[in-house]
Amino acid sequence: MEAARLSQFEIVAREDFSDVTYLLEVRHPLMAKAARPGQFVIVMAHERGERIPLTIADFDRSRGTITLVVQAVGKTTREMQQSCKVGSTLHAMVGPMGIPSPISGAKKVVCVGGGLGVAPIFPQARGFKEAGTYVIGVLGFRTKSLVFWEDKFRACCNELILCTDDGSAGLKGLVTEGIKRAIAKHRDIDEVVAIGPPVMMKGCAEATRPHKIKTLVSLNPIMVDGTGMCGGCRVKIGSEVKFACVDGPDFDGHLVDFDDLMTRLRRYTQVERAAAERWSANCRMKDLADPAAPAVELLELPDPFDDVKGG
Ligand SMILES: Cc1cc2nc3c(=O)[nH]c(=O)nc-3n(C[C@H](O)[C@H](O)[C@H](O)COP(=O)(O)OP(=O)(O)OC[C@H]3O[C@@H](n4cnc5c(N)ncnc54)[C@H](O)[C@@H]3O)c2cc1C
Ligand code: FES
Repeated sequence: MEAARLSQFEIVAREDFSDVTYLLEVRHPLMAKAARPGQFVIVMAHERGERIPLTIADFDRSRGTITLVVQAVGKTTREMQQSCKVGSTLHAMVGPMGIPSPISGAKKVVCVGGGLGVAPIFPQARGFKEAGTYVIGVLGFRTKSLVFWEDKFRACCNELILCTDDGSAGLKGLVTEGIKRAIAKHRDIDEVVAIGPPVMMKGCAEATRPHKIKTLVSLNPIMVDGTGMCGGCRVKIGSEVKFACVDGPDFDGHLVDFDDLMTRLRRYTQVERAAAERWSANCRMKDLADPAAPAVELLELPDPFDDVKGG
């Protein structure tokens, strides 16, 4: 009983950025102490829950907390959207996992976040700023109502280029337009770091390739154990095969085989859809049994790659 209690991690704050995106601040002093930019955790929301990888979007050593920003795209992330309230607990959380992003000696960097990728790029932008680097932030969202953390980025970037697909805030266009604008203004960019849907990161790598600017991307293949044992997170980097959980998640964007990554990510689409539909049906059954419970709608799930297209 005591062991079960000790293995649980309290949610101390929650913020909803949109219908499908939510932030959880979780108490875990040791994790907050150990976390470095670019690392991730594997979370189980409850005892029988699926293990899912989530990037550490922020850590606060004095509060002893880490922050996760989650997009509800399928069964587990939607279930967490309902169950993870302030005061509730996550059953398990392992990490920090992955090789921390190198906060190199670069003098000028562009940190690019697209859609949900805006959250995990934050610790890197802050890390570069603390190391004395000139930081240009490029953030991309579909539309103004989805924008989050603009103030946080303004505080740690020397320049910020906000892009929306529909032009409702900032520059109209994809993050690749923001990168092109930054490159046109600054001839001395040492490095670009990009996090977002694979198709966006592919676009970023293509935008920097002609300029020969070092470009790091954070890959999100399907992960199972997170220890390099199962092979689930295999990615092709140039002529090599790597495991994103232990060799990454950051890799040279000019060498990544993005088409292979996207094909592998879609391998279980039917099973994932069936699991989400079963879960929704269960929720509806519970509502029928308890007429006082708020209705749960069968939502059309967002495609995780549709958030920001890029490139
Ligand atoms: C290193 C890493 C960091 C990540 N960070 C975040 C984050 O900060 N916030 C966030 O919302 N999401 C993040 N993800 C993606 C997140 O893990 C998946 O969205 C989640 O596992 C989906 O589970 P589901 O049951 O809700 O949806 P499902 O319907 O099971 O899957 C939806 C889609 O998510 C992907 N996915 C499914 N299972 C996994 C898995 N075990 N590992 C990786 N991807 C999977 C697949 O592309 C799938 O098509 C990260 C993934 C990786 C590998
Ligand atoms: S998740 Fe199993 S090898 Fe990386």
